[in-house]
Amino acid sequence: MKKLIKNGTIVTAADTFTAEIVIENGKISQIGTNLSAHGAEVIDANGCLVFPGGIDPHTHLDMPFGGTVTKDDFETGTMAAAFGGTTTIIDFCLTNKGEPLKNAIQTWHAKSKEKAVIDYGFHLMIAEMNENVLNELPYVINEEGITSFKVFMAYKNVFQADDETLFRTLISAKEHGALVMVHAENGDVIDYLTKKAVAEGNTAPIYHALTRPPELEGEATGRAAKLTGLANSQLYVVHVSCAEAVEKITEARSKGFNVWGETCPQYLVLDQSYLERPNFEGAKYVWSPPLREKWNQEVLWNALKSGQLQTLGSDQCSFDFKGQKDLGRDDFTKIPNGGPIIEDRLSILFSEGVRKGRISLNQFVDLTSTRAAKLFGLFPKKGTIAVGSDADIVIFDPNSERIISVETHHMAVDYNAFEGMKVTGEPVSVLSRGEFVIRDKQFVGKPGSGRYLKRAKYNVNIPFIQDETFSIKQILT
Ligand code: URP
Ligand code: ZN
Ligand code: ZN
Repeated sequence: MKKLIKNGTIVTAADTFTAEIVIENGKISQIGTNLSAHGAEVIDANGCLVFPGGIDPHTHLDMPFGGTVTKDDFETGTMAAAFGGTTTIIDFCLTNKGEPLKNAIQTWHAKSKEKAVIDYGFHLMIAEMNENVLNELPYVINEEGITSFKVFMAYKNVFQADDETLFRTLISAKEHGALVMVHAENGDVIDYLTKKAVAEGNTAPIYHALTRPPELEGEATGRAAKLTGLANSQLYVVHVSCAEAVEKITEARSKGFNVWGETCPQYLVLDQSYLERPNFEGAKYVWSPPLREKWNQEVLWNALKSGQLQTLGSDQCSFDFKGQKDLGRDDFTKIPNGGPIIEDRLSILFSEGVRKGRISLNQFVDLTSTRAAKLFGLFPKKGTIAVGSDADIVIFDPNSERIISVETHHMAVDYNAFEGMKVTGEPVSVLSRGEFVIRDKQFVGKPGSGRYLKRAKYNVNIPFIQDETFSIKQILT
């Protein structure tokens, strides 16, 4: 059925203006004023902002890690994402050394197909680079539409790859048109420091942060950026947490390297002191890279504002406090790393960023949606409000106030990392390809309705294209 959204203020990465939107067959068919949409269902967005649906480029759903499996799967995770205004996720597909990539991808399809309530794609982990992997890359890229690869520089003896693998992945990515993503921490030195801490009896959660100092994130970020320059390739640094890493990204970008950076809400509003909370509560905040000293937050905000960091991912990787995080009660190295963030990504950036004057509304849309669409081969199908784009739309009340809490969140976990935080601004209704997933703050979607997204190859020019190319102002005049 046709839909007509009226009276809202449309916000894209480029423009803010009042207009109507007509949706037909899951796509935006018209944008303008006094539109005729005979027989359309009218949605009144009076007093609300109308954004392109959020794109979360960094999730781990139904992922085995740290001796357990993340609590949120593709059903609960995407449902919570939708409540928060996200209509697309790109999840990390894990691979095992020596096993065909195809098998790993099939495993991830099986986890997601019947469950996702919003659209989704996969990044593929590269654990080693050899002839078998090289031979499979054309299938991965051309048949599966997976155009981004993840290399872990940390988690020794688990996910960590060596520099040869990283370098060869960068070269292959350049050749095939893919974007290489790195978890940038020096895993070898972390391994040494964690073993030393445990041997000395330092087993509390705070030692997770103290054994992964910011220097090791800066070092790995700088190394990956240098290798990217050498390979003349392209790099996306996930979950940037500290000044040292921002400096290395800024330096690489100033040399003209194609290096992009993502941060996450947790690094913008929480700090290292959370890991010192009594009664083992610090374990709730154990993820990697760890939370940093508070002054880093301003560095991250400035990097978002100035464009040195370009996206906001959630790094959703949720574990219950009771029964999962407490695997590490006597030894912080056994605490599964990760946190429940997917639902509050947009609210936190809007409340702390836009409302507090740190970033503009248009930057907010770019950071939460448009830039990820461009970097990960989804633009302009996703990531903007334009004629022909998928009708992935968030109707957002900028004045609604709420307190974030486990009592009201929709993730499957038993705690919320932002418990008690007051945020202003929240999604009222969320549409995925023209169908309501959230309507008046109620879930009305259907597990399995999310579609798998085959993504376009990385195009070095696309991330720089300003939305003016698809500007509503042009359409209106
Ligand atoms: O601690 C984290 N971030 N867990 C998820 C895996 C990763 O490193 O992104
Ligand atoms: Zn990581
Ligand atoms: Zn992650």
